[in-house]
Amino acid sequence: MSRRPGAAWNWRRMPMEAESPEEYGYERIRANLAESSCRDRRLRDLNLDLDELLLLYGDHRGIPELRAIIGAEAGLGQDDVLTTAGAAMALFLVHATLLAPDAHLIVVRPNYATNLETPFAIGCAVSYIDLTLEEGFRIDVDKVAAAITPATTLISVTTPHNPTGVEIDEPTLRALMHLAERNHCHLLVDETYRDMSAAAVPIAASMSDRVISVSSVSKTYGIPGIREGWVTCADRSLMERMLAAKEQIVLTGSVLDEAIALSVLLRKDELLPVVRAHIAAQREVVVSFMANEPRLEWAVPTGGVVAFPRIRSEANVDTTKFYRTLLDAGVFVGPGHWFDQDPRHFRIGWGWPTPDELVYGLRSISESLGA
Ligand SMILES: Cc1ncc(COP(=O)(O)O)c(C=O)c1O
Repeated sequence: MSRRPGAAWNWRRMPMEAESPEEYGYERIRANLAESSCRDRRLRDLNLDLDELLLLYGDHRGIPELRAIIGAEAGLGQDDVLTTAGAAMALFLVHATLLAPDAHLIVVRPNYATNLETPFAIGCAVSYIDLTLEEGFRIDVDKVAAAITPATTLISVTTPHNPTGVEIDEPTLRALMHLAERNHCHLLVDETYRDMSAAAVPIAASMSDRVISVSSVSKTYGIPGIREGWVTCADRSLMERMLAAKEQIVLTGSVLDEAIALSVLLRKDELLPVVRAHIAAQREVVVSFMANEPRLEWAVPTGGVVAFPRIRSEANVDTTKFYRTLLDAGVFVGPGHWFDQDPRHFRIGWGWPTPDELVYGLRSISESLGA
């Protein structure tokens, strides 16, 4: 739906946010399998001494040391990085800078809701590349190529993918990058879950100045309450325009959030192995659950902490009753409609619950599927 000239953006709340655990009330949930992050940490556990932190307006692009660390990982410099309030704001800046009602976007679906909703709010033309369980939720580059029009300004993908946990392999990523280069548009790669996997493909923005990477500290480090993310891209003119947009929204990021994010990224080598071991152990529990639950099918997730199982149609499950029974048991999952999908699909996450909560949540899923 395109926006009328002069009309306001088409804002509407995303079901995923309106029905999120924080809106529903954490205290009402016994096993939270709806989160896509690792368990939230307490500030105390980070052992920070921030008493001397000057609460000034910070560097407009973000603390240089923080940006240098992020840029270096992609073989880029600090000026190729702009910090934002979470990956959410980074995605907003990218969309608001590269899309307009007369522009065309190619985006994969299902997806993290913002990647679909902000383009909807802007009112640009959109071609959806629908990922299916039958195809392992893998992207067919030929379908993306066929969707390109002269108005295409952006191709948008997510890896590791939310909600399926499927990763884009390097040849596919490079093919998408070449498509963007050949067609003089940009490729947005939402890499918010990237740090959760040890053997991830290169940071996409390292491949070409046509590629934009977005990420944050929220998911992997379990600190989504400090709103700290970033956009990385070697296209300096685009970065300048996104900086202008950031300045018009918030001037600068929160110096407190940036200081905390910096301290966490400086300890990456110490923190990541622990995080990844937790993710791997919890994932095994889910893999074994799926192997023993004949009423569910899925594409095996290779990255991140979420997967998108589907109730087999032959299982004849009443999905309304399924979600109600599950909620009555205090178990929260991400229902299919959060992702514009059939209610037989639902997202489960294993990074947030404790081992006991995960086992309880999975057992409740089986029980709620019926006899
Ligand atoms: C793929 C993806 N991108 C971006 C975000 C936004 O995360 P944050 O703003 O906390 O960094 C999320 C959150 O769920 C996500 O799943």
